[in-house]
Amino acid sequence: MIITDGVFSMDGDLAPLPGIVEVAEEYGAMVMVDDAHGEGVLGHHGRGIVDHFGLHGRVDIEAGTMSKAFGAVGGYIAGSEDIVEYLRQRARPFLFSSAATPPDVAACIAAIEILQESDMPVRKLWENTEYFKAGLVELGFDIGASATPITPVMLGEAKTAWDFSVRLFAEEIFATAIAFPTVPHGRARIRAMLSAAHSRDDLDFAIEKFAKVGRELQVIT
Ligand SMILES: Cc1ncc(COP(=O)(O)O)c(C=O)c1O
Repeated sequence: MIITDGVFSMDGDLAPLPGIVEVAEEYGAMVMVDDAHGEGVLGHHGRGIVDHFGLHGRVDIEAGTMSKAFGAVGGYIAGSEDIVEYLRQRARPFLFSSAATPPDVAACIAAIEILQESDMPVRKLWENTEYFKAGLVELGFDIGASATPITPVMLGEAKTAWDFSVRLFAEEIFATAIAFPTVPHGRARIRAMLSAAHSRDDLDFAIEKFAKVGRELQVIT
């Protein structure tokens, strides 16, 4: 079995899923995609990486979470009836955890209904992403190799990233630092995540604060 994370969440880059699926088909392997970061973001109406690459019916198992773009809580596994039935009988979290509460389930259903009704939230998310990334690049920040709204701001040493995050928080921007062992030594960063709910004013405010803190810490000139 080949297991892949659809959107590599630390860098925001995309898994080369078409190639993975081809190799799996050639060797008779199953493919499982964890699309926690792709759902609500990639594909038509946020249907995820499988839809983005048009690989319908060629991925055996998809694991998803409702806790990221959908803004709720919980998760799911999609696959054949046999796989789903097997997990119902054997999956430990399914057997030993409490069921989701009705308000959580209602929030999940509402999030999916919103996306089914309109592609607008997904388009807004991508517009916001382009605007924010362009603003950071213009200021001279290194935003890595992201192909998605996950926007790493590469800062190098862990201390710089922590200081940056603390200073941003004091400026009313909540953007946490990520350092070793989550990412390699010397590749510490702030990871910013855009939302469809951000207004242009919000984004301008954030860009202004990144500029202020970036100059203060001499990350940019
Ligand atoms: C790739 C990936 N899969 C799954 C999860 C788990 O999601 P949840 O916290 O909703 O269980 C995460 C959470 O960060 C994730 O990054």
